[in-house]
Amino acid sequence: MHRIVLIITVNVDSGLTLLVNFFVGTSFFLYWDVVRFQLMVIRLLEIIELACGLDSGEDAHRETVIKVGVIKRCGEILGIRSLKENSFKKLTDSLTCSDQPVGQFGLVNVHNNVSSQQQYTESFQEIVRLRLTVEDSVELCKEGVGGTYFIRDEQNDFIAVFKPCDEEPGALLNPKNIIKKPLMPPGGGAIREVAAYLLDKNRAGVPETVFLRNVIHRQLNNGDRMIPKTGSLQRFVPNIGNAGCMGSSIFSVGDVHNIGLLDIRLLNLDRNAENMLITKNGNDFRLVPIDHTYSLPETFGYIYYEWHHWRQAKIPFSQQTLQWISNLNPEADAKILRELGIPEAAITLMKLSTILLKAAASCGFTLFQIASLITRRRMTEPCQFEKFIALAKHQYSLGVLEQLALEFIHSLKQ
Ligand SMILES: Nc1ncnc2c1ncn2[C@@H]1O[C@H](COP(=O)(O)OP(=O)(O)OP(=O)(O)O)[C@@H](O)[C@H]1O
Ligand SMILES: [Mg+2]
Repeated sequence: MHRIVLIITVNVDSGLTLLVNFFVGTSFFLYWDVVRFQLMVIRLLEIIELACGLDSGEDAHRETVIKVGVIKRCGEILGIRSLKENSFKKLTDSLTCSDQPVGQFGLVNVHNNVSSQQQYTESFQEIVRLRLTVEDSVELCKEGVGGTYFIRDEQNDFIAVFKPCDEEPGALLNPKNIIKKPLMPPGGGAIREVAAYLLDKNRAGVPETVFLRNVIHRQLNNGDRMIPKTGSLQRFVPNIGNAGCMGSSIFSVGDVHNIGLLDIRLLNLDRNAENMLITKNGNDFRLVPIDHTYSLPETFGYIYYEWHHWRQAKIPFSQQTLQWISNLNPEADAKILRELGIPEAAITLMKLSTILLKAAASCGFTLFQIASLITRRRMTEPCQFEKFIALAKHQYSLGVLEQLALEFIHSLKQ
């Protein structure tokens, strides 16, 4: 008899945990879950089939224990992850949910899983450096087009994300043979990741990000010989997927506004759904912005914001947010960026977008309306922001630029 013990964690919505002890061949199983029994029965066969698939390796004929994290939302089981194989399979191909293993055991109660995160608040870099001396602590992220690596702690949990400059999309040592023209020349992504963290100042929740030098590790893409690498290091955020996994209505107005404001200040060219992770604490879903490689461009181009047409973007800013926007200081932000080594042309664009944002918000524009100024309706048709850039040319005084922005916004309102 082939005996499978499934430890299945379901019911992400309510945070309940269900333990199923299932014996294949004897039709005996034990369960408890008062809320979702029906759903459980409907999906059980699928789960078992998938679990058997995961376990079809060399010891398939022996008695096997498989622990499986079941990922579920809105009454639908998205997939399961075998801890033994450390793999994750989708139940249906149509799902857009991230394939990435998340946390140590399935996706339930992610906030219970951050203990190791809190421990390294003080010495994030030091702990990561220590882990980098361990052979198998680094793992290439299968998603995305860049060389993005997860770093594990002693408990095998992901604690950090490292993105070396020489493995960015289009760079010589990029490990992913994906032929796709990068949105910006390679090599400048890491400082932009750091810049986004510093400019955000914990408002939208960009995870702590630092610049890390002299990283030597066999698992990185080293080419012919091991070379010290430089790149961005970001805290890993335990998550239940990305914004593409759920209907946008579940996200809070505050989160959407804060990410939107950050994206406008940074002129982020890459705010797609995958670059907003979702964390869950009870019934509280939060958005976490990641991947700012393609922010702070030196030349303005086509921008697409995933959140642009979300309901929340059309809701007026709160008084608190309006106050925060009015306190934004483009000169102070420029100083931070200059010290990091961000090119002057990118700094100028950031200043202009911040000035226009402030003027528009003070005139009662919503996030949706401001984003509409920044984005082109058609690929080649200039947007209002581009017209403002032309107007602002050769103006260097902040006061003059602010006045110009106000007049520009008023002219649009007429
Ligand atoms: N701080 C983080 N915490 C948790 N997961 C992360 C974090 N940063 C990145 N990831 C995961 O790694 C994936 C790839 O990261 P990221 O998007 O930053 O890299 P990329 O290679 O530049 O990808 P892209 O193709 O989107 O440009 C993300 O989609 C996400 O699943
Ligand atoms: Mg990405």
